[in-house]
Amino acid sequence: MDSFIEQTLAMRAKRTYREEDRLLIQKGGYVSPNPNLYDDILVALSLKKPILLKGPSGSGKTRLAQSISALFQQPMQSVNCSVDLDAEALLGFKTIVSQDGQSTIEFVDGPVVTAMKRGHLLYIDEINMAKPETLPILHSLLDHRRMLTNPFTSEVIVAHEDFSVLSAINEGYIGTSPMNEALKNRFVSFSIPYLQAEQLRTVLEQAVPEAEAPVIDTIMNLSEDLSKQAANGLLADEAASVRSLINALQLAVHMPVDRAVTYAIAELLEDKMERDLVNELTATWVK
Ligand SMILES: Nc1ncnc2c1ncn2[C@@H]1O[C@H](COP(=O)(O)OP(=O)(O)OP(=O)(O)O)[C@@H](O)[C@H]1O
Ligand SMILES: [Mg+2]
Repeated sequence: MDSFIEQTLAMRAKRTYREEDRLLIQKGGYVSPNPNLYDDILVALSLKKPILLKGPSGSGKTRLAQSISALFQQPMQSVNCSVDLDAEALLGFKTIVSQDGQSTIEFVDGPVVTAMKRGHLLYIDEINMAKPETLPILHSLLDHRRMLTNPFTSEVIVAHEDFSVLSAINEGYIGTSPMNEALKNRFVSFSIPYLQAEQLRTVLEQAVPEAEAPVIDTIMNLSEDLSKQAANGLLADEAASVRSLINALQLAVHMPVDRAVTYAIAELLEDKMERDLVNELTATWVK
């Protein structure tokens, strides 16, 4: 393992970190599509860079964040962005607490403040769904200052040394807006593709250990066809989503593969021609 990452891990876990631990944690966790991606993300995180994960639905962004949380032994605070996201959902809110007949106003820390104070991992999902005016409150946190002034309490909060940020986006989806340049500029960014070939097989086998080899082979063959047709523009990219392939494989343990694929993949596509194409491709692999 890269000694720089090893040192960071040892520092965070406050103990020596062994290669066996890392492999154990990775089992069932995020599988890197190439030898570099996962380690490069760990290097960037170790340098305290906020990370932006860009990838389609079901490409493993959340799983990647969960794996890093396990690897660093660092709990994860999650924020799901939407147009309704406001400063309170990020930072927390004031509440009245009654004790011994006395009422006092206390501030309940939200996910951002909790992660900052305790050195947790902050996962901001679908960051491009938030209204552009909501997120500038995080700018000072996401650059070298690593602090923010809580507007509700006027408290100046400096992030714990271990505090880290991972954000995820699905580019170009309905309801998303292009990320504000000043916000985007604070991140280092990684494209998260759908897995293919052996890495995909590993994930399928780990996700559905009870599936038999011929069924996994069929799903693997179909996935190759789906990726090709998506590359040709004949299918939506999400047709080859790893999540959908896992769903299809789980159903296929209990029913014929063609029905499983219809429910888990074809029926999710808007266009009838795309649905028919998926079913036709499946038929070529099912005897
Ligand atoms: N590279 C990968 N390694 C391990 N598991 C993966 C990988 N890619 C996808 N998966 C599996 O696919 C499923 C979906 O992954 P996940 O929820 O992380 O996707 P996502 O990119 O966060 O999707 P969304 O954008 O819809 O939230 C999970 O069961 C996950 O374990
Ligand atoms: Mg996700």
